[in-house]
Amino acid sequence: MSDLTKMLINPDLSGCERAASIWRDSGLVAMPTETVYGLGADARNDRAVARIYEAKGRPSFNPLIVHLADAAMARDLVHWNDHAEQLANAFWPGPLTLVLPLKPDAGISPLVTAGKDTLAIRVPQHPVAHALLSAFGGPVAAPSANPSGKISPTLPEHVLDGLSERIQAVVDGGACGVGLESTIVGLFDGPCLLRPGGVPAEAIEATLDVSLTKETITETGEAVSAPGQLLSHYAPKGTMRLNVIEAEPHEVHLGFGDIEGTMNLSPAGDMAEAAANLFRFMHDLDAQGAQAIAVAPIPMTGLGVAINDRLARAAAPRD
Ligand code: TXA
Ligand code: MG
Repeated sequence: MSDLTKMLINPDLSGCERAASIWRDSGLVAMPTETVYGLGADARNDRAVARIYEAKGRPSFNPLIVHLADAAMARDLVHWNDHAEQLANAFWPGPLTLVLPLKPDAGISPLVTAGKDTLAIRVPQHPVAHALLSAFGGPVAAPSANPSGKISPTLPEHVLDGLSERIQAVVDGGACGVGLESTIVGLFDGPCLLRPGGVPAEAIEATLDVSLTKETITETGEAVSAPGQLLSHYAPKGTMRLNVIEAEPHEVHLGFGDIEGTMNLSPAGDMAEAAANLFRFMHDLDAQGAQAIAVAPIPMTGLGVAINDRLARAAAPRD
């Protein structure tokens, strides 16, 4: 095997400068964030953004999230509003993405929005992401750094396993602390939950003092209130069975709390710990060649909503 560690960039000042210069040259660099690793490119550069879709094998009609060093930059790109101000004050930097009307003169590549008139933006909290975005000084489009439909990466090795031949480098920020993608909130009509994630919906509702309408995002980035068939995503190689208290002998049992399992997402029943472990355990099971995975019930409270969302997609029927 070739020495893939050559592709890892140290997260120091000179490493961040090197990564930023690859972005300026239209290249792809994966960056650590507190949620998952993102596959970054200059969001203003059509050629660079096209490479993201190509590297991931992602349908070009599925729009990307733009990452910014600070909230002030957001106002140049989107039509800001009071709800955005409240949520940015409460949760940025952090695992929350806001979808707002795009300013036509924002300079964002139309490939980022897949032609939509809204833009998804996020200010990540990870210090290395912040250093990289500051060194670059512009908007970075970054989907999760996994081949489309596969498990999201929470370690640099996961990125290299899936994409090493298609990208220039990975900035090594170690393990992602949250371990699940950002919560996505639409603020272009009424406030609407588009994807459960690292910030529980209850915390967003408490901040805005409104109930979020709940919609499901399709692979085209369309919000639908009555989702049809759940699309397969986050799929491990083995089959997945959910809400299993006692596994069959041939299954690996992913436990939670008192349901011990073969490996336990959080023996203490702590949601944050389970979220941080989920994708790593799924990657490990893939590496071990697990054929059949059974998962213990995870309560639908707090981060449990996002964990159950990812599990349901991982267990969804595949083509
Ligand atoms: O935590 C995260 O959000 C990570 C890290 C890297 O920031 N990123 C991430 O990106 O999860 P991705 O591409 O795997 O998921 C982005 C989701 C997709 O479901 C996409 O359809 C949706 O965001 N999206 C992007 N722009 C949108 C828009 N304008 N309207 C509605 N949905 C949008
Ligand atoms: Mg993704």
